[in-house]
Parts: sequence; C-alpha cells; structure tokens
Amino acid sequence: MSVNLSGRSFLKLLDFTPEEIEYLLDLSAELKRKKHAGEPHRYLEGKNIVLLFEKTSTRTRCSFEVGGHDLGMNVTYLDPGSSQMGKKESIEDTARVLGRMFDGIEYRGFAQERVETLAKYAGVPVWNGLTTEFHPTQMIADILTMREEFGRDLHGRKLTFMGDARNNVANSLMVVCAKLGIDFCACGPKENMPEKGLVATCEKIAAETGAHLAFTSDVAEGAKDASVIYTDIWVSMGEPDELWGKRIELMRPYQVNEKMFEVAAPDAIFMHCLPSFHDRKTTIGEKIFEKYGLPELEVTNDVFEGPRSRVFDEAENRMHTIKAVMYATLKDPE
Ligand code: CP
Ligand code: NVA
Repeated sequence: MSVNLSGRSFLKLLDFTPEEIEYLLDLSAELKRKKHAGEPHRYLEGKNIVLLFEKTSTRTRCSFEVGGHDLGMNVTYLDPGSSQMGKKESIEDTARVLGRMFDGIEYRGFAQERVETLAKYAGVPVWNGLTTEFHPTQMIADILTMREEFGRDLHGRKLTFMGDARNNVANSLMVVCAKLGIDFCACGPKENMPEKGLVATCEKIAAETGAHLAFTSDVAEGAKDASVIYTDIWVSMGEPDELWGKRIELMRPYQVNEKMFEVAAPDAIFMHCLPSFHDRKTTIGEKIFEKYGLPELEVTNDVFEGPRSRVFDEAENRMHTIKAVMYATLKDPE
C-alpha cells in the first residue's frame, strides 16, 4: 500500500510506521537532489504556514522558512515573546485561530502535551519543532545523513548517544532507531538514562524490527563498534542554568573525544544536532570556562572539526527533511 501522509500532523515518531518514516527519507533525498540541481519545486504555491517558537532556534526556524519558500509558501514567524499563546490565550483557542488562517503550524516549546493540544484543536497539520520530550524533525535529518554515509540499509549499525541520554534528542534517537531496526545505545550516567515507560515502548517496537537497545554507563562498552557516536549539549533549553555545575560533574566522562573512536567501528562518524559547546567562542561557553575551567564540553574541538564529523551535513539536511515533512503533510491526497 502506498504511503499517504496528507493532512497528518508530525508530533512524534512513535505515531509513524517504519514505512512512513522511510517514505519521508526517500522524499527528503529527492527534494535535496532537486534543490542541488536547481529544479524548481513550488508544489505548495500560495499556501500559508506559521512558525510558533517559544524557545530560540537557528536551524529549525531557517529550515521551515527556506523549505517553505522553496515550496512556494508564505511563512509567518512568531517569536518567543510575541504571541498571546499561554499568557492571554489558551493553547486551544490559539490553535483554533491559527487553524482558520494557516494551512500548517510549526511549534517549538515546552511540554509535548502542548504540541499535541495544538494539533487536536487546529484542524490543520501541526509539526513539532522540538519539545522537552522529543525532537522528531531532527531525526529525519540524522537518518538521512547516516544513509548518505553508510547506504540505505542501516540494519545492524550501532548508534551510540553519549551524555544526557534522557533529553529530547536522545529520546527521539531511541525511537527512530527502534522503528528502523538500527541498534541504539544510551551511554551516560545512570541518573540520565531514558525514562522507563519510553524504553518499554521502544523495546516492543525493537522486538519487531530487530533493533537492539542497550543502556550503559561504561564509555568503552558504549563506544565499542559504534558506527555513529552522537552527542548533544548537557543542559537543554528550558532547564535552569544552575544545573550546569552538577551536569558537568556527571557528564564529563562522556565528553566525546578521539579515544572513543579507537574502539568504535573503523568507518565511524561523529554526529551532533547542534548548537555545540566545542570551543569558547560563545558567551555561555566562555562563562562556563571562567567558572569551571573547561574550554570544550560535550565534544572536544578535535572531534568536532575532525574528518569524522558530519555535523554540517546534518544541519543542511534539516532543511531538506523539514521540507519533505511539510510537503508530505500539506499536499493533496493522491
Ligand atoms: N538542532 C536544532 O534544532 O537546532 P536549532 O535549535 O538551532 O533549531
Ligand atoms: N537538547 C537540546 C537540543 C537542541 C536542538 C535542547 O533541547 O536544547
């Protein structure tokens, strides 16, 4: 049966079958090819979308904007301080208002429940641009990047997430790996392992797809034979700055460095959703250096800038894959 995602929201990957995810990956690759070849693809000419951001963003916002424009759409951006949502107007009411004006709504913000509520009341597709629990559009870009590196068949490959293994990116990586039959390893302190309920759900999915899920606090075990070593910042957006001290103490052993690649697969690559604290060229990075004396945090600058790093391919792929998500959900059913 052919895949049809018209009219669907994109809230979390648990809502999608492996076939639907593969379809989005194929569509992303095709849209990337067209963009690079300069072939116009204004398939959604005249549609209007709104981007609702309650947290800051570079990649996600720009991907929705450029992707939307490439598809021929008009794009409205609402920044973290400029809509009534939550302060003077409920999410339910905001959803019903925006749904009357726009063909699709992107939301980045706090609890997953908020984006689910938006989708329930909007009457148009809603796309999750990151919540506290999940970051599903990032995953399509990450798997596309893996396909470009290792080919279409990723079964038996191991992806290891090092560090804060219960954040939105780690959760979503576990889900996408389980769905696509890719081995997933969460490697970090015991306190920061993915939540049990989500692990149980993913274990069930993995049993059907052949993925193997592993959880360890041992760095050598985590890095062993990994095709991808992936990390993310140690304190996510929405978490208090006071957490930095404790997190640095907990996460330091999991900083991705060259040594980890000695036991990884010979063709292993490094991935990171970005932004990254790999040097002191940011205000937060510099403050942390002054307070804790660490010039690089979740990844060493050597690895970030080295030949195994694919972080800017991932960043570019955000645009092609977000474009695919918008096109697949807004196009007329065939
Ligand atoms: N990876 C990612 O979502 O980046 P932004 O926070 O810049 O959107
Ligand atoms: N875990 C990070 C991801 C940023 C793209 C955060 O939520 O801040």
